Amino acid sequence: MCGIVGIVGQAPVAPLIVDALKRLEYRGYDSAGVATLDNGTLDRRRAEGKLVNLEKRLGEEPLGGLIGIGHTRWATHGVPNEANAHPHFAGDVAVVHNGIIENFAELRDQLRVEGADFASQTDTEVVAHLIARALKNGASPQEASFATLKQLRGAFALAIMFRGDENLIIGARNGPPLAVGHGDGEMYLGSDAIALAPFTDSITYLEDGDWVVLRRSGMEIFDMSGQPVERVRQQSSGASQMVDKGNYRHFMEKEIHEQPEVISHTLARYLDFAQGTVANFDLPFDFAKIERLAISACGTAYLAGLIGKYWLERYARLPVDIDIASEFRYREMPLPENSAALFISQSGETADTLASLRYCRGEGIPIAAIVNVRESTMARESDGIFPTLAGPEIGVASTKAFTCQLSVLAALTLKAARARGTITPDEEKAFVRQLAEAPRYVSQALKLSDGIEKVARELSHVRHVLYLGRDTNYPLALEGALKLKELSYIHAEGYAAGELKHGPIALIDEQMPVIVIAPHDRIFEKTVSNMQEVAARGGRIVLITDEKGAKNATLDTLETIVLPDVPEFVAPIVYALPIQMLAYHTAVLMGTDADQPRNLAKSVTVE
Ligand code: AGP
Repeated sequence: MCGIVGIVGQAPVAPLIVDALKRLEYRGYDSAGVATLDNGTLDRRRAEGKLVNLEKRLGEEPLGGLIGIGHTRWATHGVPNEANAHPHFAGDVAVVHNGIIENFAELRDQLRVEGADFASQTDTEVVAHLIARALKNGASPQEASFATLKQLRGAFALAIMFRGDENLIIGARNGPPLAVGHGDGEMYLGSDAIALAPFTDSITYLEDGDWVVLRRSGMEIFDMSGQPVERVRQQSSGASQMVDKGNYRHFMEKEIHEQPEVISHTLARYLDFAQGTVANFDLPFDFAKIERLAISACGTAYLAGLIGKYWLERYARLPVDIDIASEFRYREMPLPENSAALFISQSGETADTLASLRYCRGEGIPIAAIVNVRESTMARESDGIFPTLAGPEIGVASTKAFTCQLSVLAALTLKAARARGTITPDEEKAFVRQLAEAPRYVSQALKLSDGIEKVARELSHVRHVLYLGRDTNYPLALEGALKLKELSYIHAEGYAAGELKHGPIALIDEQMPVIVIAPHDRIFEKTVSNMQEVAARGGRIVLITDEKGAKNATLDTLETIVLPDVPEFVAPIVYALPIQMLAYHTAVLMGTDADQPRNLAKSVTVE
């Protein structure tokens, strides 16, 4: 997703803006640009590709000025080239934008009729022209911006600058996040607190419908009726965590290796290891009284929720409806009053998940969210928040957030099971003890790199891979396929092993490796039969299992990756490691960008 930065400062801003944009690189982008005002001159530098190209342009042609806006663009309208890179100009106006203006075409047509020339294919440029037109008709920058905002439909976070006023930036938020940073005689605007960390950790998050007037002396926030509104000024946690790769090649590699630590932090937040009980959940509903739980999320977060469904239904006997958010939000699922909803999101800003949350709010049921960004929109709009303590996840592919989401879901399952009387206090103690061991099991799984790299070398030569699993290993098969395709661009599919005979078995030949996730659990034998069906047709199997599974899987495999013996309840958390590592090592061998895979964004704030 795009990144926005704005500074009304007291020192040359161009290099500061580029540094702040670097902290937004993890969001994914394909071009970038900066504009400044310098003694009456409005000017910009833009470049296709990574920020290093923009820095080169600025080195060749520096930009002066103590006020500026910058942008990293993830293309929605128009190819990723310099002409479509932000900031966009019209008259005395410069604009950067994150989101999609859904009615931009009709607005552009109207502007063209009035003689406007467009230099780009973007929806954003329409905003610059609308404001410029209002200014020409005598409006002030504030009036012109407000009048324009009321004409826009869709999702937008905007930063706007005006030739003629070197002490004014206007920001607006409707969907994608936007935060104000408070400095000493300076003010900042950014897509999140991480971008503003070098300047300040004193942050005000704008709400949907807010627009803000920033001057060096401070800010004024208004709503879409033009009324002033107050928003909390807070100390941001995310800002203080200046993130870097340490001695790892990629953020993703670092975050894979952080999992023992962040899983233990997350579990400690919800479990009392000494008492052997589940402790702190500020539940907005009573598990003993609700009859159904709806879960919705996207991508990897959805797959964490799918594992949560197996757990909640098995151990707490709580029926769970789960759906990907892009479907849930339009399905209009009937939600009986004695139901509740749970949303899972690393960023807390994913548009489809947020829309699904708002659908449930409209239905009047209690809402809880598992999020990794405490100040995110989803956190603010939920009745109960269950934070993961994964720390900032910079790699676009979700790894530590996933296992922390599972950790929260496992603890939540025990909370639900105790409330519904489906497990005894002694059983709760036993499960808590198992979870307490999860970080150690994960540390052991991290030592499997050699076998994993051998399989990665095999995968780096193929174009298609099938992942199979049963029960909670089925969502892991889906996650393994998602990780491989999003990181190495190899086509991969995850399938319920029991479904093999209903179609996918037609794919089996020696060209397509089959990754089978099968700890020696209650249905291991069933999965062995599926492996034999694959082997009988020349399929090449990579088996991810434990000692007992390796011994009992009486067939030849391309490779068998043997994990420590872990209790069934904890297995999904531990078996996430080999599938993450396999995708990572394959990506490294194929030379793809493991931290920012092509076409992907870290937080999909548009639908
Ligand atoms: C996971 O590796 C992907 N980056 C993607 O599927 C991600 O999980 C999805 O976009 C949801 O993001 P969220 O957790 O921030 O809502």
